[in-house]
Amino acid sequence: MAYLAPISPSLHIFKNPQLTRFQFAFSSPNPLLHSRSGIQNLRMSMNKRSVVIASSTTAASEKQKKRYPGESKGFVEEMRFVAMKLHTKEQAKEGEKQTKSPEEHPVSLWEPTVNGYLRFLVDSKLVYDTLDEEATSPTYAEFKNTGLERSEKLATDLEWFKEQGYEIPEPTALGKTYCQYLKDLAEKDPQAFICHFYNIYFAHSAGGRMIGRKVAEKVLDGRELEFYKWDGELSQLLQNVREKLNKVAEEWTREEKNHCLEETDKSFKYSGEILRLILS
Ligand code: HEM
Repeated sequence: MAYLAPISPSLHIFKNPQLTRFQFAFSSPNPLLHSRSGIQNLRMSMNKRSVVIASSTTAASEKQKKRYPGESKGFVEEMRFVAMKLHTKEQAKEGEKQTKSPEEHPVSLWEPTVNGYLRFLVDSKLVYDTLDEEATSPTYAEFKNTGLERSEKLATDLEWFKEQGYEIPEPTALGKTYCQYLKDLAEKDPQAFICHFYNIYFAHSAGGRMIGRKVAEKVLDGRELEFYKWDGELSQLLQNVREKLNKVAEEWTREEKNHCLEETDKSFKYSGEILRLILS
C-alpha cells in the first residue's frame, strides 16, 4: 500500500519475543520515549552541539509527520485514514476502492432478505461476543465497559425475532472462523487485534447504523433494533475510546503501529463477508 511504502518491512510481533501480552497491558519500555527524553537533556545543556542535535531531530519528526497521514492527530486518525481508503466511493466519499462485491454497491440498491439479515445478526453477535469478552481480560483492561459493547443488545434483538416466529440460524463457518482468528490475535498479536477492535466498533457506529436503517426500511417496517441503540451519548462514548486507543498506541514503536495499520485489509475482508450475508 502506498502510504506504507517508505517504511522498512514491519516487525511482526510473532517474531519479537519481547512483545508479550504482559508488556502490552502494562506499557512496554519504548525506545522512542527514551530517545525523546534524551533530547530534552541535551537541549538543557545548551551548547552548540546540543542545538544542532535538537534541530535535526525536530526536522526528522516533522518529516515523519508528513509520512503518516493523520499522525499529528493521534493514532486513531491514522487507522481511520487507512480504513476510509478501503471503502468504495459508493460507500463513503473518502473511499478509493473499486466496487466489486455486491455489498460494496450503495445500500439503497441492496435487496436484503429477513433471513439474510438474521444470518448477519447471528454472525455479528458471535463477533461482538468475542470482542466484548476479550475487552474484559486484563490485557485489554482499558477497553472494558466502554459502552460500545453490542453482544447483549444483539441477544435482545434475536429474542425479538424469535418471538415474531423467525427461526434463528446457527452461526456460519465464516463467523466461526473470524472469531477464532480474533481470539488468536487477542492472545498473540495485540496490535493486530486492536485494528479489528477499532474497525468493528467504529464501523458499526458509522456505516453500520446507516445500513441498519435502510435494511429495516426494506424488510422490517422500519423497526429500529437494539443493535443500533447505545446507552449514553454515542459521540462521547466513541471519543472516550478514541482517547484510550491513542494513549495505548503512544507506547507502540512505529513498526508496531504499521503492523496494526496493515491489518485493516483483513478487517475489511472479514467484516465485508459478514455484511454480504444480508444479501444472501
Ligand atoms: C456497505 C458497507 C459500508 C458502508 C456503506 C460504509 C460507510 C461508511 C460511512 C458513510 C462512514 C462515515 C464517513 C465519514 O465520517 O464521513 C464510514 C466510516 C467508517 N467505516 Fe465504513 N462503511 C462500510 C463498511 C465498512 C467496513 C467493512 C469497515 C471495516 C470493518 C468499515 C470501517 C469504517 C471506519 C473505521 C469508519 C470511521 C468511523 C469514524 O470515523 O468514527 N466500514 N463508513
